[in-house]
Amino acid sequence: MTMKIIIGGDSAGQPLVKAIADYLKTRDDVTFEDGSPTPEQSDERYANTTERLAMAVKEGRFDRGILCCGTGLGVSISANKIPGIRAALTHDTYSAERAAKSNNAQIITMGSRVIGPELAKAIVEKYLASEFDPQSSSGPNVEAIDALDQKYSPA
Ligand code: RB5
Repeated sequence: MTMKIIIGGDSAGQPLVKAIADYLKTRDDVTFEDGSPTPEQSDERYANTTERLAMAVKEGRFDRGILCCGTGLGVSISANKIPGIRAALTHDTYSAERAAKSNNAQIITMGSRVIGPELAKAIVEKYLASEFDPQSSSGPNVEAIDALDQKYSPA
């Protein structure tokens, strides 16, 4: 089945966003959109770019998201403010695999000032190849994460 991916980031994240777009274009099993700010949205803060893209995932318009900024930290912190979103900062392929398998992360984040384009592509490849199994030992841990959203989200 075709996986729908949303990618994007702030100006600092663009080198990786472009590299990831180039990689995703080579795959016929995914479709993707780049939701980075348009020239008209150039004043947008990375928190608000992240909000747009994370909400597109939360609302089911995309299966997964890949967000980039200078460090990957700002977009990760911002995405995790959206109840129900689990975003993971991944700068190595093992973490990319575990982000899916252990954390059921719908979003991974990376930093253009931290890693280069080839590692970013390998991270994306590993993440997209990895699936969460709710019957695994990680199932109750992800349920416990989601319970925190319920506990601390405004009613
Ligand atoms: C922008 O300069 C930079 O702060 C941002 O891209 C990100 O790294 C923040 O976490």
